[in-house]
Amino acid sequence: MIERRKSKIHGWGVYATETISKNTRITFYAGEKISNRESLKRERRYIRQGHIWCFKLTNRTVIDAGVGGNIARFINHSCHANCYIDIKAGVIWVRAAKTIRKGEELTYHYNTDGEGLIRCTCRPGCPTLL
Ligand SMILES: C[S@@+](CC[C@H](N)C(=O)[O-])C[C@H]1O[C@@H](n2cnc3c(N)ncnc32)[C@H](O)[C@@H]1O
Ligand SMILES: [Zn+2]
Repeated sequence: MIERRKSKIHGWGVYATETISKNTRITFYAGEKISNRESLKRERRYIRQGHIWCFKLTNRTVIDAGVGGNIARFINHSCHANCYIDIKAGVIWVRAAKTIRKGEELTYHYNTDGEGLIRCTCRPGCPTLL
């Protein structure tokens, strides 16, 4: 249903290889489950390398896709995303927000609560800081 390819937004991205209907569970966000405290340490290191790999699962737990992650870790952010996040029973699902056509890049809104160090490149002139 999806594959990793070079993206216009940033580095690697994830693309639909067939039409995906609205609300489909496309993939889950895999990685090591760690404490919020541990993630703050790791995020400092990751952000220096220009990456956000840590995904907040609850107020106390985070999934670090830098360790044991799957293809979901290559999904880029967009301010006009075609996917959304649905957390069920401790699993972070990436689901289709609308019908996604073959060849479209998958994106979701990162909803970062970090320091906003990365300029969003979802479209020319986007003012958002991730
Ligand atoms: C989960 S990774 C996504 C995969 C990434 N493109 C790669 O090649 O490793 C998240 C990182 O991708 C980049 N990224 C994702 N969406 C972006 C966007 N809309 N604008 C700028 N950078 C973005 C940022 O460096 C972010 O830290
Ligand atoms: Zn943007």
